[in-house]
Amino acid sequence: MPHKIIDVQIKTRKADAATVKADMLAVGVFDKSPCCAAAAAINTALGNPLRRLKALGDFKGEPQTSALVYSDGQIAAKRVLFVGLGPRDTCDNQTLYKAASLAAARAVDLKAAALGLVLCGGQGKETKLTPLETGQAIAEGICFGAYRYDEYIQQATEKRPAKLTATVLTDQAAGASGLRKGVSVGAVTGAAQSFARTIANRPANIMTPAALAAEAKRMAAPIPALRCSVMEEKQLRLKKMGGILAVGQGSANGPRMIVLQYTPAGATAKTPTVGLVGKAITFDSGGISLKPGEGMGDMKFDKSGGIAVLAAMRAIAELKPKVKVIGLIPSAENMPSGTSYRPGDIITTYSKKTVEILNTDAEGRMLLCDAIAYAKTLGCTTVVNIATLTGASVIALGQKRAAVMGNDDKLIDQLKAASVRTGERIWHLPCDDEFVEAMKSKVADLRNLGGKWGGACTAAGFLSQFAEDLAWAHIDMAGVGVWGAGEKDAPGSVGFGVRLLTAFVRTL
Ligand code: BES
Ligand code: ZN
Ligand code: MN
Repeated sequence: MPHKIIDVQIKTRKADAATVKADMLAVGVFDKSPCCAAAAAINTALGNPLRRLKALGDFKGEPQTSALVYSDGQIAAKRVLFVGLGPRDTCDNQTLYKAASLAAARAVDLKAAALGLVLCGGQGKETKLTPLETGQAIAEGICFGAYRYDEYIQQATEKRPAKLTATVLTDQAAGASGLRKGVSVGAVTGAAQSFARTIANRPANIMTPAALAAEAKRMAAPIPALRCSVMEEKQLRLKKMGGILAVGQGSANGPRMIVLQYTPAGATAKTPTVGLVGKAITFDSGGISLKPGEGMGDMKFDKSGGIAVLAAMRAIAELKPKVKVIGLIPSAENMPSGTSYRPGDIITTYSKKTVEILNTDAEGRMLLCDAIAYAKTLGCTTVVNIATLTGASVIALGQKRAAVMGNDDKLIDQLKAASVRTGERIWHLPCDDEFVEAMKSKVADLRNLGGKWGGACTAAGFLSQFAEDLAWAHIDMAGVGVWGAGEKDAPGSVGFGVRLLTAFVRTL
């Protein structure tokens, strides 16, 4: 049995921070001063360590920096971690998210199981935040920073607490209820993101398509507003989902289509339905068009788009927005074998459109095209798909931004707005007819490979042929967080997309 991943509990409390018995108190500091009266009071009680830190040049309140000091009975907490927030005017929800994350990461490292936080910001002209937004950012940051993927390390629990209890503190009556609400929302989305990281970090021998489907069922079972059904190979064959079947046919671990349906209370036939479609290739070897060996193990993360949808569905069903949402997660393992699909094959997809395979490593679009067409038959009028689809998107945008493409400017704008709110960054690229042109085949309706250039855009152009009159957008997240670039505390999945998709759905 694997270890349990660290359990994070988050609460809000109205109290004088000096009296809170914590193993660590995280206290926000702007570049010029503590972030609020409560933060200033802690510094004063400790004999003004901030003045000494500043005089020595050890800590100036810059973002992503911190200073640890030990109390000696002046306050109830054992340690104080001063956390930099930068200038007051530029401290936004991302700054708070990162500061809370840094504090939680440090608490876990020090086995400080009870963490109190005094963090505020969002007071600049352009960075105004409501208490609700503040609470959500802090709670999400705590979840992110506390996360460690160590379920298969025997000594894991000796190195960290089994559980982190974080308490977001305020001494103000005004805004306390907004803060509390925000913290409870952030605890839901943050926990969903951590869940996504765990499932994504599990390797392909453990997280097969069938195991992923079982995980989805287990996740949905206790949530009344969420239904999960799974199509196994036999049903995929009955439905003629040729794309998914082709990709999955080379593996001993057969393909699945996971269907998650969230229905809000009081929904009628007129309630609009949004589809979220995520690629879940549990391992992408490339198939017969085999990938080079170096770094191939990272292709266990090729299920990350599907997992973003899975975890977002959990957060959505817990936060209960007033739209119907259908999550579709086509899952397969792309392997080379005697039963694999091959270059040259012509596949009849679920939509009836035929596709000539030029490269079996362009497999993601073969699953997504079936799921997009299926979403239509389930009544979706808007579909957003998310996938680790192309190396070309990483070449284009690097590892900090995902690409977004689509056929509906309003939908792209809604996604961009959710991106700004969550800090999960996306960048709009084109996918119009010039890119579709590159996907024309001489022997089938389409081919699965474009030319040499613009690979992210031609892949999206291919998908647009299945979206047709849907309002449709596609997020290519191949570059983002698959390798956990720069996350030294917790390498691996960063759970990209969970907060973005949840935020998007909540504003519809
Ligand atoms: N899963 C990969 C894309 C990928 C590449 C994700 C790098 C993360 C990092 C996808 O299935 C793939 O193999 N794409 C090919 C497409 C090509 C054959 C048109 C690629 O990008 O090389
Ligand atoms: Zn792939
Ligand atoms: Mn591939």
